[in-house]
Amino acid sequence: MQSKRLSPYKHMILSIISAIGKNNEIGRKNALLWDLPRDMKHFRETTRDHTVIMGQKTFESIGRPLPNRRNIVITLNKDFRAEGIEIVYSPEELNELLKKSENQNEEAFIIGGGQIYKLFIDKADKLYITHVDVEFPDADTFFPIIDMTKWKKTKSEKYLTDPFNKYNLEFAVYEKK
Ligand SMILES: NC(=O)c1ccc[n+]([C@@H]2O[C@H](COP(=O)([O-])OP(=O)(O)OC[C@H]3O[C@@H](n4cnc5c(N)ncnc54)[C@H](OP(=O)(O)O)[C@@H]3O)[C@@H](O)[C@H]2O)c1
Repeated sequence: MQSKRLSPYKHMILSIISAIGKNNEIGRKNALLWDLPRDMKHFRETTRDHTVIMGQKTFESIGRPLPNRRNIVITLNKDFRAEGIEIVYSPEELNELLKKSENQNEEAFIIGGGQIYKLFIDKADKLYITHVDVEFPDADTFFPIIDMTKWKKTKSEKYLTDPFNKYNLEFAVYEKK
C-alpha cells in the first residue's frame, strides 16, 4: 500500500521502526531489553540501503554507524563528533538535510530511542512495530502510545518463539489514517 505522505517530509516517506514490549517498553540503562535475532533480521532487512536516524543515546548504545545505511544522529551537543555519521541539531535541520537527498523517493527510518520517537511520531507516515510478547517492569525508556484514532494497522505477521527467540513476536505496520 502506498503511504499517503502526510508528514512534513513531502519529498520522502518518514518511517519509524521499533520493538516494543506489552507496556511500550523499549530499553533500560541505555540498552535493549531483549536479544531477538529474528527481530534484528527484520530490522536489517527493512532498513538496509536506506537512511537511519537516531538520538545520540541510541548511537552511543550501538557504538558504531550501522553498515550499508546512511546514518544520521540527532543531538543538541555542538561538540559531538563521530566517524561515519552525519549530525543534525533539530528536526528542522533534519528536514533540510533530507530535502537535499538525491533519491527523492527514499524511505528514511527513525530508529530510536525514546526521546526521538516522541519527537517524530506525529511527523511520521508509517510505523514498523515489532510487538514483543513480554513485560519488563524495570524498563526506563518507552515508545509513545500509538493513537489508534490516527493510525491504522495495515500488516501483521506473527512469529512464535523458538530456541533462539525467547518471546513471541508480531511484525506490524501502521499507516497514518
Ligand atoms: N526497542 C527498540 O526498538 C529500541 C530502539 C532504539 C533504542 N532503544 C533504547 O532506547 C534507549 C535510548 O533512548 P533515549 O530516549 O534514552 O535516548 P535517544 O532518544 O536515543 O537519544 C536522546 C538524545 O537525543 C538528543 N535529542 C533529544 N531531543 C532532541 C532535540 N529536540 N533536538 C536535537 N537533539 C535531541 C539528545 O542528545 P544530546 O544529549 O547529545 O544532546 C538526547 O540526549 C536505550 O535503552 C536503547 O537501547 C530501543
